[in-house]
Amino acid sequence: MELFLDTANVEEIRHAADMGVICGVTTNPSLIAREGRDFYETVAEITTIVDGPVSAEVMSEKGADMVREAQEIRKKIKSDNLVIKIPMTAEGLHAVRELTRMGIRTNVTLVFSSAQALLAACAGATYVSPFLGRLDDIGESGLELIREIASLFAVQHIGTKIIAASIRTPGHVIGAAAAGAQVVTLPYKVLCQMVHHPLTDAGIERFVKDWKAAGLS
Ligand code: G3P
Repeated sequence: MELFLDTANVEEIRHAADMGVICGVTTNPSLIAREGRDFYETVAEITTIVDGPVSAEVMSEKGADMVREAQEIRKKIKSDNLVIKIPMTAEGLHAVRELTRMGIRTNVTLVFSSAQALLAACAGATYVSPFLGRLDDIGESGLELIREIASLFAVQHIGTKIIAASIRTPGHVIGAAAAGAQVVTLPYKVLCQMVHHPLTDAGIERFVKDWKAAGLS
């Protein structure tokens, strides 16, 4: 499985890329807005930092407009790694079908049910992004949704990849990977939480102390 970083902050992406653990990046309009920078400039910079897929979302509501917007994004950001993020609506499905016909990779976002995931796959989506945290927030199980989509896609030999999104905790990452998501896109904060363990820190401290006490340098 692969880990993507769910952020538009280039410093966070650089740090995670330096760790050697992320294969791609997902952005969304809220994450772009949080950085206060130009959309095209930000996404273009991100494509220079990571080697893998970078998702950039369209803002249009009509399918034909989404297709035009996707082409515009691809014209301004010349990267083979660009993936067009499309919201899970009827218009969005139309756009996914058209973009797939053009050979453009898509990531269908705001997926909250297996039915939506199946429709996105039938339209030709490269990726579907079920939102775990937002389902948990309303008392449903995000991980159960990942399990259901993964088993549905496996039974039907569907090649669309699952990106587990809206990740809140390291437990979400492990749970989504175990449930069959091919990709987990996680916030930088969760990545940092995954790196650290108090016993690792205590262990390093003790090794250094013992080394110095023995007069080694
Ligand atoms: O990028 C989509 C998704 O990961 C957003 O997560 O935390 O806003 O629910 P969140």
